[in-house]
Amino acid sequence: MCGIVGIISKEEVNIKDSLLGLLKRLEYRGYDSAGIGFINNNKIQLIKKKGSIDDLACSIKNNYFSHIGLAHTRWATHGKPSSNNAHPFISQNKKWAIVHNGIVENYLELKKELKNTRYLSQTDSEVIAHLLEKQKASSDIEKVINVCNKLKGSFALLGMLVDKPNTLFIAKRKSPIYIMEGNLEVIVASDTICFEGKGSKYYTLNDDEFCVASLDKLTFYDKAGHQISKHAQVLDNLSYSLSKNEYKHYMLKEIMEESDVVSNIIKEYSKNRFTEFNKKFLEKVDNIVIIGCGTAYHAGLIGARFFEKHVNIDSTCEIASEFRYSDKKIKPSNLYIFISQSGETADTLACLELVKRFGGLCVGITNVMHSTLAKNVDICLNVCAGIEVAVASTKAYIAQLVVLYMLSRHFEGQLRNLQIDYMKDVEKLRLSLQKTTFTDIDEIASLISKKQSVTFIGRDIDYSSSLEASLKLKEVSYISSFACPSGELKHGYLAQVDSNVCVIVLATNQKLLDKTLNNASEVEARGGKVVICSPFKTQDKFIKIEIQDIDSDLICCLVASKLQYLAYKTSIIKNINPDKPRNLAKSVTVE
Ligand code: F6R
Repeated sequence: MCGIVGIISKEEVNIKDSLLGLLKRLEYRGYDSAGIGFINNNKIQLIKKKGSIDDLACSIKNNYFSHIGLAHTRWATHGKPSSNNAHPFISQNKKWAIVHNGIVENYLELKKELKNTRYLSQTDSEVIAHLLEKQKASSDIEKVINVCNKLKGSFALLGMLVDKPNTLFIAKRKSPIYIMEGNLEVIVASDTICFEGKGSKYYTLNDDEFCVASLDKLTFYDKAGHQISKHAQVLDNLSYSLSKNEYKHYMLKEIMEESDVVSNIIKEYSKNRFTEFNKKFLEKVDNIVIIGCGTAYHAGLIGARFFEKHVNIDSTCEIASEFRYSDKKIKPSNLYIFISQSGETADTLACLELVKRFGGLCVGITNVMHSTLAKNVDICLNVCAGIEVAVASTKAYIAQLVVLYMLSRHFEGQLRNLQIDYMKDVEKLRLSLQKTTFTDIDEIASLISKKQSVTFIGRDIDYSSSLEASLKLKEVSYISSFACPSGELKHGYLAQVDSNVCVIVLATNQKLLDKTLNNASEVEARGGKVVICSPFKTQDKFIKIEIQDIDSDLICCLVASKLQYLAYKTSIIKNINPDKPRNLAKSVTVE
C-alpha cells in the first residue's frame, strides 16, 4: 500500500537522491505510481510519474538541492494510476504540499464545502491540501489539526509549507507513520525500515496525534491542540536486512531463510514461554477465536485445528473483513488471537477494536513488534521472521504456524498438568527445513505453467494447507487456482476436470491417506494430471512431491515450504516478477 517519506536536513542535499533512496525501501509495499515534492528557490516543486520509482528517477534529469522534501508511492484506490493522481498534492495558492496514506471517506462532502477549487486529480487525498489553504487559525499546526478533525477514515499525513522550509507537519489515524530524529536530519516514514543506518531512536504517533518536526525539536500534540510528551523507542536491528544476498528475488531468499526463522523462534521462546497463559486463566476460556486475512487467516485455520486437537477448547478462525460486519457474539470469556505479519492490516485492526469494546482478551501474533497490532493487544507474540519484503508471505506464514503450534501445546501442558517437550518438534522442523531440497519441484512447475487451472485438494489440515498453496500460486503465477476439500470433489468440482487441469493432492495424514488417494484416482480417471505431495509411499503412476516425515503437526510447514517454492518457480517460468505481483500490496492498510 502507499508509502510515505519526508526529510528535513541540516545541510542542503541532493533532494531527489535522498527522497528516492528512502522511497526505494518502501517499494516492497506495492504501488503503481510515485512522486516527490521539495522546496527549491522558495517554491514547492512536484515531480510525479505513473510506474516505478526507477521510472520516476529516470524522468528527473536535473539535480535539485534542498533542505526539505516529501515523497510517496501510491497504490491506486480513487482514480487510476497516473501522474496526476500520484502524490504529492499542492494547494491552489501553491503554499501547502501533502502526501497521504489512507482513505478520506467523506472527500466528496468536503469537496462540496470548498467553493471555486480546481482539482487536478481524481483522488480523495487532494482535498486535504485545499482544505489546509482555506483554514483560518492562529498557527499552522492548528490548521493541520482542524483539517484532520474533519476527515473521516484513515490517514498518515505529511505536509510542508513553503513559508516554513524547515518544518514538516505529521498526523496519524489508523495508518502507520514513524519519526526519526538524527543529528543532521529528521526522517519521517511509513516504516522504520527507512531509518536503517540513519539513527537508532524513533517516535510513533497514536491515532489522532500530531507532530511538528524541525531540526532542533519535535513537538507533539493531541487532537485538541494540547502539547503532549512522547518517549523515543529504540530500533530493533534484528529485523533489518534488505539485501537480497545471492538470491535473484526476495521471495526465494525468504523461502530459503525458513530454517533460520525457526532457529530465531527457538532462541526467543526457549525461556519464560507463554507465562501469561497459566492453568487458572485457561480454565476460564470458553472458545478460542482466531482472526486474520489472507495467508494469516490460513495460518489461523490450521492454528484452530491445533487448539482443537491438543486442547479441549472449541476454536475457530474468522476472516477479518467478514467478522467485522458479522453478527458474531463477542464474549469476554473467549480468547481472541489476531494474526498479522505486518500488524497493520486495516480489517484485522478493525476487528481488534471491535473485540476490545466488548472486553475479550486479545492476543496478537505478528512479525512487527512496533506495529499498531502489537501496541494495542493485551499480549503480543513475536514470530521472529525478520523483515519480509516479497509481497507473497512465505517465511512469516511458517513462523505463524510454529508459534500457534507451540501455544497450543503449552495450553495442553497447562490444562493437563503435563510437561510437554514440544520444542523438540520445533527443532525437528528446523532440521528438516534445513535439509529440504527443491529439485523435484522444477519439473512440476514446468508442467503446471502450461495448465489453465490448478487445484489443490486435501482433508483436514491438508485442506487448509491447500487454501494457502492455492493463494500463493495464483498470487505469483496468475494461474487460476482453487482449493477443494478432497471429499467435496464429487459434489461439483469433478465437472471441471479434463486434460487441461492439474490437481495437487496433499496427503500428510496417514489415517486419511487411502481416502485421499481414491480422490486422486477419480481425477486421473477423468484425464486430469495428478501430483501427490506426501511423506508416504503412493502409487508410482502419480508424480510425487517428497515431504520428510517429521511425525508432528508441523509437517504442514514442510508442505508449505515446497509449495511456496512451486509457486515461485512457476512465476519465474512465466516471466513474472514474484516479488511484486500485479495489483497486490504487501501491507493492506485500507479496507
Ligand atoms: C499473501 C499475503 C496476504 C497477507 C494478508 C494479511 O501472500 O501475504 O494474503 O497475508 O494481506 O497481511 P498481514 O499478515 O500483514 O495482516
